Amino acid sequence: MSSIRSVIRGVGGYLPARVVTNEELAGLVDTSDEWITARTGIRERHIVAEGELTSTMGVIAAKAALADAGLTPDDIDLIVLATSTPDQTFPATAVTIQAELGITHGAAFDVQAVCSGFVFALATADNFLKGSTFKRALVIGSETFSRILDWEDRNTCVLFGDGAGAVIVEAQDQNGSMSDRGILATCLRSDGRYRDKLYVDGGPSSTGTVGHVRMDGPEVFRHAVSKISEVVGNTLKQSGFQASDIDWFVPHQANRRILNGAARKLGLDPGRIVITVDKHANTSAASIPLALHTACTDGRIKPGDLVLLEAMGGGFTWGALLIRW
Ligand code: UT7
Repeated sequence: MSSIRSVIRGVGGYLPARVVTNEELAGLVDTSDEWITARTGIRERHIVAEGELTSTMGVIAAKAALADAGLTPDDIDLIVLATSTPDQTFPATAVTIQAELGITHGAAFDVQAVCSGFVFALATADNFLKGSTFKRALVIGSETFSRILDWEDRNTCVLFGDGAGAVIVEAQDQNGSMSDRGILATCLRSDGRYRDKLYVDGGPSSTGTVGHVRMDGPEVFRHAVSKISEVVGNTLKQSGFQASDIDWFVPHQANRRILNGAARKLGLDPGRIVITVDKHANTSAASIPLALHTACTDGRIKPGDLVLLEAMGGGFTWGALLIRW
């Protein structure tokens, strides 16, 4: 039985030029390189320059993904941007990216699921491609968290960074089995009872301001491993694979301890986890495509590999995707 699968055609990533080390932050708030490294695995983050926006980074990552795929903007008929830091409240930053790429057909919109945004955006694009509404989607995660951080709050400002990553997915006819290339299983979850555990204390309809990131870190941590395990377990069950079948585990890059904890609980080989959080901290919706870009560029992820993505973030939202590369 044939079926349409969303197959990854290209990957791109972009990090702003300015690198801010843990030592530099120790001059700003009461923290230390030792504390940040031991508690999170983060060593440095990249911060946007003046005038550099979520759309600016998204366009660069998108162009890199197009080049990787050997495609042009004309080949794209859907753009889904995952971001919690749009250029403006509206219009969607995806339409700015669409215009800057010179695309005047198809559709573009933003998806907001904070750190789970990329998983939600890719699952959304997958459904549109499988439903034959569109043929090729550009799925981007781009964030300028540096602009919504309280730079006097050591609980949050040391954890986040800016960046963008993008993938191109294409609808392709496959044979409908688990040996197909493309997205094989998805699982998305949210539970708004936890919305005050990780949030921004402002917004258009509440304060009329943008606000700053606030987080009950230990509480997020407490839920992370079990929620990640739940959705990963679900995608494995849907597909009939075991944890030992996974070639590469590419998690949302928030905290090295969470990634290792989830991998341990799931019985995943630690050598198969792609970890980039040391290089760019938590870039929210951008972290998974940035990690994918790293692991594709350095030759770890190859066509045919079974790749598992997962994320958990504000809302709470959490989700996982299983892809045959
Ligand atoms: O991507 C979205 C999901 N977000 C996450 O996954 C984040 C989840 N949470 C975490 O990663 C961890 O909870 C943190 C890294 C945020 C914090 O680590 P923790 O081991 O949970 O530390 P804690 O919050 O329990 O704080 C321990 C101590 C406290 O001091 P006292 O009360 O023990 O004296 C904090 O005030 O560490 C202190 N602290 C810091 N010290 C130095 C908090 N932030 C810092 C800091 N530098 N930056």
